[in-house]
Amino acid sequence: MTIQEKYKLKGSLNISGDKSISHRSVIMGAMAIGQTEIHNLLESKDIMSTINILKKLGVKIKKSKGVWIINGVGTCGFKQPSQKLDAGNSGTTSRLMFGAVATNPIYTKFIGDKSLSTRPMSRVTNFLEDMGAKIELTKKNYLPISIQGTQNCLPLKHIITKPSAQIKSSLMLAAINIAGQTSIIEKQATRDHTEIMFKYLGIKFQKKIYKNGKTQIIINGPIEILAKNIFVASDPSSAAFFTVGALITPGSNIEIKNVCLNKTRIAYIKILKKMGGNIIIKKVGKLSGESIGNIKVRYSKLKSVVIDKKFAPYLIDEYPILAIAASQAKGVTKMKGLAELRYKESDRLKSIHENLIASKIDSSIIKDDLVIKGSNQPLSGNNKITTHHDHRIAMSFSILNLICKKPLKIDDMKCIEISYPKFKQDFKSLMKNG
Ligand code: S3P
Repeated sequence: MTIQEKYKLKGSLNISGDKSISHRSVIMGAMAIGQTEIHNLLESKDIMSTINILKKLGVKIKKSKGVWIINGVGTCGFKQPSQKLDAGNSGTTSRLMFGAVATNPIYTKFIGDKSLSTRPMSRVTNFLEDMGAKIELTKKNYLPISIQGTQNCLPLKHIITKPSAQIKSSLMLAAINIAGQTSIIEKQATRDHTEIMFKYLGIKFQKKIYKNGKTQIIINGPIEILAKNIFVASDPSSAAFFTVGALITPGSNIEIKNVCLNKTRIAYIKILKKMGGNIIIKKVGKLSGESIGNIKVRYSKLKSVVIDKKFAPYLIDEYPILAIAASQAKGVTKMKGLAELRYKESDRLKSIHENLIASKIDSSIIKDDLVIKGSNQPLSGNNKITTHHDHRIAMSFSILNLICKKPLKIDDMKCIEISYPKFKQDFKSLMKNG
């Protein structure tokens, strides 16, 4: 019997808080004046990396009765740390925190794990150096990195050519502590959680969106943040795993509740619908400025799709699980312009492709495009999955397991704690016999 014949996904689920919003809530809570309560914070390893760094910078953070409480120190109140700041596996922690400390008159040294130490950092630090922070990088691009911040950073006009919300957010966090006008131009818009949280916290800024996709953010600093309690919406990227799980497993029918419906994050639902996925979204309200709603998903016969490269910034974390959907869709799916995937927790373009091939799924990389020939034949499974300790690879192939005759041998399941410690528990709660 295949696992597919044995199980289907059924029932409803409240998943954990969103990773991007959680990082921003603790950082902005720390930079605020007063006390911030954070509800539904994602308690994953990446978020703990951010919290531990903030504690080393003198911020008091504790958890009481399920709520995180942060006593903010203001935008220029970080203390000189006595130890190195360890960002662990987290690109968001390191890049956002670079911007937050660069405008404080303190010396910091950032380190990270093996994966983070191979990811490019000059994409952020170049801008902070232009502002006046003194920065030393390893081999001009990598951690360990030391930053001598200054309170006299310059207000400048920055043009970001790589689509990355982390770069934009880092510069926005710096700009609120710079006297004068900082202008941040993105050639292509990226996820906008920082803007939404700025608005929610009453931080004044202007955002212009141009027809050609360019955006401009103007901040006149310095600005003080006044503390305000934050409620974190549930993570749409985590919801994507079970959404695809239900779509590819016959007899499945699930509902995922209170998911963040930010348009820059749920493009994967549009793509899955285009592939024939039976998905219904119901908006139920707003949480700290972010739209939330319930997602209902039923098993569906999927067909292939061509995904243009202009969607890449809005699907960036979902390509691994979209690849699993594509493997079960009739026809050839083309995901175009995935260059940025090479710089994630692993070279995700390679990790996805290699593991699809290992699972006997027809996949090829053509320049920066991933091409997958789908089939809805049950897979034999039993092969090894090399995660490269990348949480999204481990979760995506755990979902593929649903339609394998024998379980896949995933080499690291612990890495899932980076973004979704409750993954296994939630998965089990949806898995029903018969
Ligand atoms: C994130 C932005 C994205 C995403 C990451 C979280 C954020 O990275 O992949 O998981 O919270 O801003 P890039 O900005 O490098 O694309």
